[in-house]
Amino acid sequence: MYKYIINAEDIDVLNQDEKLSSMVVEEYFKGNKEYIIYSEEDLINKLKKYNIRFDLQKIVDEDWSVKWKEYLKDGWLTYTTYFTHTPKQFDDRDVLYINPSMAFGTGDHPTTKIAARLLEPLVKDKVVLEVGSGSGILSILSAKKGAKKVFACDNDINTFGNFKENCRLNNVNNIYMWCGSIDSFKTSVKVDIVVANIISSVLLMIKETIFNINPEFIVFSGILVGERETFLKKVSNNYQIDRENIIDGWWGVRLKRC
Ligand SMILES: C[S@@+](CC[C@H](N)C(=O)[O-])C[C@H]1O[C@@H](n2cnc3c(N)ncnc32)[C@H](O)[C@@H]1O
Repeated sequence: MYKYIINAEDIDVLNQDEKLSSMVVEEYFKGNKEYIIYSEEDLINKLKKYNIRFDLQKIVDEDWSVKWKEYLKDGWLTYTTYFTHTPKQFDDRDVLYINPSMAFGTGDHPTTKIAARLLEPLVKDKVVLEVGSGSGILSILSAKKGAKKVFACDNDINTFGNFKENCRLNNVNNIYMWCGSIDSFKTSVKVDIVVANIISSVLLMIKETIFNINPEFIVFSGILVGERETFLKKVSNNYQIDRENIIDGWWGVRLKRC
């Protein structure tokens, strides 16, 4: 097992590689925040490709495919909804149980929190479509908070086992998921809200399809604060900013149909 301690100034660069950025965990050492990647794969060439500075430690005798989960903390996903990784079945509408796996969306990433906070107040009795569902955390939040129906897709088939497990653990059964992207979404059901927490380059690729679905609200997250202006220039004239949110250098926006 390799442990890479990433130079804090290079964290934004990691965002160019979604798989790599989703592996970063934050740890505190002597009161200072450190950014760490634990990996069984040797990532030196990948990190060098992006000119990322790092210290490397080799760790032996631990099952790190299990061990990394111990570093995850429970916490607040939104102002009213708590997420936990403690294995227990919950019926409480204000607690989400997410079994951590390699699917993105354990609850502690700022982009997930931004999306959740912009999404949660809207979902009651609405039809929600999520693009890039990962662990399913945002879809499950929607279902738990009273969404009529939730459609969810992810183009990574490896996320699906974890998504289904999380649905079961949270007792939600009105989520319809498929493997693929939004262009294969075909239904006559009117969608009220679309949510997508994906890196901005992908959001820009799929945005026209989302605008064509014509939902009342769109929540975009996964965008760096520095990308805000460029991103907003590419938003359809049919939509205006309803609300924005920033956490730890990440920006998200809720758009409302004019
Ligand atoms: C940052 S994760 C978000 C996971 C979860 N929704 C959350 O908010 O924590 C982005 C997810 O989008 C998926 N993804 C990336 N590009 C996609 C695309 N074009 N269509 C569908 N899913 C995509 C990735 O596989 C990944 O699971």
